Amino acid sequence: KKISIIGMPMDLGQLRRGVDMGPSAIRYADIVERLENNGFHVDDLGDVQIGRDRLETDPQTGIRNLTAVVKSSEQLMAKVEGVMKANSFPLILGGDHSIAIGTLAGVTKFRKRLGVIWFDAHGDLNTPETSPSGNIHGMPLAASIGLGEKKLTDIGGFTPKVEPENVVIIGARSLDEGEKNLIKEKGIKVYTMHEIDRVGMSSIIEETIAYFRNNGVDGVHLSFDLDGLDPLYAPGVGTPVAGGVTTREAHLAMELLAESQMITSAEFVEVNPILDERNKTGQLAVDLVGSLFGERIL
Ligand code: ARG
Ligand code: MN
Ligand code: MN
Ligand code: MN
Repeated sequence: KKISIIGMPMDLGQLRRGVDMGPSAIRYADIVERLENNGFHVDDLGDVQIGRDRLETDPQTGIRNLTAVVKSSEQLMAKVEGVMKANSFPLILGGDHSIAIGTLAGVTKFRKRLGVIWFDAHGDLNTPETSPSGNIHGMPLAASIGLGEKKLTDIGGFTPKVEPENVVIIGARSLDEGEKNLIKEKGIKVYTMHEIDRVGMSSIIEETIAYFRNNGVDGVHLSFDLDGLDPLYAPGVGTPVAGGVTTREAHLAMELLAESQMITSAEFVEVNPILDERNKTGQLAVDLVGSLFGERIL
């Protein structure tokens, strides 16, 4: 029962400043103590250094800060690899969602049939061609299934990291046209807010677990974007979308995933303390981590 925390103070995958302080906000909400009190041995490995050299927008592709994001992703990948080698659970704190590229590159050096739960208001399935913003935090899932900019897809020297059929998106309510097309084309499983309202979070998580078991995955990564929650509960995010998951639904999801014992790595991203209300979103992230690692009310 060992967990290794890696801070990834990345804010170059989007334009709102402050998300680089996400790892601090989550640590100040006592994530280490919380997990230790629940019986885990926790090592906080500190933060990955984010290279701020050569901030740029590529005139050809419109991608922002590609060089810096690639460089930092490689460093995160190496750290995650080290944690996997030591048989510890990698828990990464963001930072904007572009960090998932590095996380997944590290995890999939060891897990060749990884399942991914993408808990998010967004699909993060844009390529440079379909992106409305040029922001890399809208591209990490596409890059991880091998689509888009080569420098992003090829981090670690192999692509794809994950097969599209081993991806489940939960909480979607803001998808760009190109993302919708890609979801249809690749047959990616998506539970939008409509399905969550209709059948409830418990059925959706049960279905997701059964789906991964049936696919024969060798681990499941949880990529948790706090903007999957309604901004009422998680105001400290850069791209809030109304009509999201409630705090209770999110806890239920984490509790059911804990019971399944299927999750083998996780990241919590997009916590932006500058946009937050008294660290409400950072605290919520820690509460949800608690549930993911087996905390129960009684
Ligand atoms: N789809 C939009 C874009 O590509 C928003 C992406 C938001 N992503 C996130 N990780 N919050 O720019
Ligand atoms: Mn130790
Ligand atoms: Mn996201
Ligand atoms: Mn999002």
